[in-house]
Amino acid sequence: MREIAVFGGSSHPALTAEICAHLAVPQRPVLLKRFANDCLEVQLQSNCRERDVFIIQSLVRPVQEHLIELLLMADAARGASAARINAVIPHYAYARSDKKDAPRISIGGRLVADLLVTAGVGRVLTLNLHSPQVHGFFSVPVDHLHALRELAGHFRQRDLSNAVVVSPDLGYAKSAAAFARRLGLPVAAGAKERVSDSEVHITAIIGDVAGHDVIILDDEISRGTTVFELLDRLREQGARSIAVACTHGLFADNALDKLAASDVTEIVCTNTAPLEAEHPKLTVLSVAPALAEAIRRIHDGESVSSLFDH
Ligand code: R5P
Repeated sequence: MREIAVFGGSSHPALTAEICAHLAVPQRPVLLKRFANDCLEVQLQSNCRERDVFIIQSLVRPVQEHLIELLLMADAARGASAARINAVIPHYAYARSDKKDAPRISIGGRLVADLLVTAGVGRVLTLNLHSPQVHGFFSVPVDHLHALRELAGHFRQRDLSNAVVVSPDLGYAKSAAAFARRLGLPVAAGAKERVSDSEVHITAIIGDVAGHDVIILDDEISRGTTVFELLDRLREQGARSIAVACTHGLFADNALDKLAASDVTEIVCTNTAPLEAEHPKLTVLSVAPALAEAIRRIHDGESVSSLFDH
């Protein structure tokens, strides 16, 4: 078996360190230089020749910087004769750009997938892509994990006797239903229309939420526009209490503080993105054990899907 070599980009050092600790392998050093003309250069400071290389980089703010860094790291590994280059991307930011829904619009999700492959990436490990079709943008194998097990484990500690899971939109209803099944709960979904990055309309909720303890489940919270709109509808419909859960807690535009200041009972996310703020209402669950186990299985040629099936 070829030796494993794990490198981390600069986007989320804490997660990289945690994954390496679970794998019981050292994190290999990387030198990142920025020249006076603002160009970046990466040097992998450990032998890659014939190694099974894993590069961990979450595409979080500043996304473009972290993307270029990942591409340069893959290119450096290819130039150093790596046997295989695996990109571990806990949060694949461009996944929301996945369709031509306006004239002359870019589809970043597919373009970034092509760029990664061009840079030498031969396999991708990621978590909770915004929509399933993004998986198909890659011309190399993708292991697409979710965090439903971690999130369900958290909510199993709560009194769920009167609870219902609510997806903000029909697109995420399938995942919300899978999450609800894990907890033995009913599921409901919002009829959501996104007008712009900062405006969404949820016109109806399909399913019964009146008098229930609601767990909102979404793939990500960015500005919180979606969740705030859903909170309004849920209150109007008489939800008894509301907790919020997501995989990618991006919390742009002060969303965490705003959400924590509302009447939600708790906010739960995972650590696919580094969090700048903390709050007593916030619980951050680690996906490092799941990613480390997936990396181990990929390296050993074992099934990954059998571990993380819905
Ligand atoms: C969008 O369709 C996703 O499922 C999330 O609801 C969305 O990305 C959240 O973004 P924001 O918090 O800015 O509404």
